[in-house]
Amino acid sequence: MNVYDSHRIAAILQNLGFTEASSLKTADLVIFNTCHIREKAAEKVFSDLGRLNMIRQERLAQGLDTIIGVVGCVVQAEDEQIAKRSPFVDFALGPLTYHRLPEILAKIQKKKGMTLIDTEFPAESKFDYLPDNTSMGGCSFLAIQEGCNNFCTYCVVPYTRGIETSRPVEDVIKEAKKLVSEGSLEINLLGQNVNSYHGEDSSGKERNLAYLLRKLNEIEGLERIRYTTSYPADVDDDLIACHKDLPKLMPYLHLPIQSGSDSILKAMNRRHTSGQYLETIHKLKEANPNLGFSSDFIVGFPGETDADFSATLDVVNKVKFIQAFSFKYSRRAGTPAALMPNQIEEKVKKERLEILQDLLFSYQLKFNKESVGKIMPVLFDNKGRHKGQLIGRTPYMQNLHAELGKEYCNKIVNIKITGATVNSLTGILEEK
Ligand code: 5AD
Ligand code: SF4
Repeated sequence: MNVYDSHRIAAILQNLGFTEASSLKTADLVIFNTCHIREKAAEKVFSDLGRLNMIRQERLAQGLDTIIGVVGCVVQAEDEQIAKRSPFVDFALGPLTYHRLPEILAKIQKKKGMTLIDTEFPAESKFDYLPDNTSMGGCSFLAIQEGCNNFCTYCVVPYTRGIETSRPVEDVIKEAKKLVSEGSLEINLLGQNVNSYHGEDSSGKERNLAYLLRKLNEIEGLERIRYTTSYPADVDDDLIACHKDLPKLMPYLHLPIQSGSDSILKAMNRRHTSGQYLETIHKLKEANPNLGFSSDFIVGFPGETDADFSATLDVVNKVKFIQAFSFKYSRRAGTPAALMPNQIEEKVKKERLEILQDLLFSYQLKFNKESVGKIMPVLFDNKGRHKGQLIGRTPYMQNLHAELGKEYCNKIVNIKITGATVNSLTGILEEK
């Protein structure tokens, strides 16, 4: 979501006549887009700001001014901290108000030195005020839903991104068609709780994610559809059927479980048990036996015992995730879990994370190794580290490196997989 927000912010700036600077030292305007999900991410902002202030001072000595802005969830949660710890910041905007950048920049440019903070939950939707979304190349993000009503007890999102809102069906379809006309072959629908999407159609009727996916599947020129991130309890039969019926829907689903222990899931205020999660996975696999799953995990949630942690390992052994994201629990001020007793020692969290990641990586590596020898359609959308190399994604979201000229960029190409590591594949062009 932050990559997407940054893309939209860059478009606002381009509309205002800004061009990309080659380095921080030559930038007249620097905006940090920030994440508040875990403490480490939030703290990074302050050290980055400190470093930027030094550059700002050097530029000032040369008679050059730098406008510094902070946007995103850290602003929503820590606006006073920003003003106190980094008083040189010119403006700070929450994730729902960055469409107001033009008016704020205009004010600052007029009266440099003024600090403005805007962390309102606005009545208007930013999507109605932003310049049209533009293609990011072969793969584009399209936000369809924002915010979350789930209030998992560890999570800041409902407080920083606000309550759930869904964009109207017609707006999404129109935007998707525009992205395709600009060269997008793949669209990844985004939302903090994307599968609880309930946007209105033109007649005012509420429609679900499955309805939207079916509509998108009809768009000519669109080859691949993904959606992320889903909440297990909101996966309904309609959505499951899409994985059977829609050829453009990729066979990869990110479905976070967080923990395999029912008592921890309850303490997390998750609306599902591990059994219900496994049942959903089972139904999805029945709909499409080729589906691969990924998940998010938190270890060391308050009160997590060795037995609770073992239950998480059990789920991993059952589902055999092909990718996963795992984190040590991070205590976030203002969330209920931060006040829970039995907070887990850092040492234990670290040990558990290592054990979990070793297991997750073993399944990921196994899946990647099994891909060797297969031919897969790969969508290339990035340059590799060296000349003549491109990076793309398989249908299963595996990163793939290939020695290919840039004429293959933003195209889907059949590739024979020749090598695999935990994090990526290599392959060669499959001659037709
Ligand atoms: N500590 C650790 N991980 C967290 N996540 C959300 N909040 C926290 C927290 N307080 C993780 C969850 C979520 C992912 C985006 O970040 O696993 O799915
Ligand atoms: Fe946070 Fe996701 Fe839970 Fe919403 S569903 S509160 S975004 S972890």
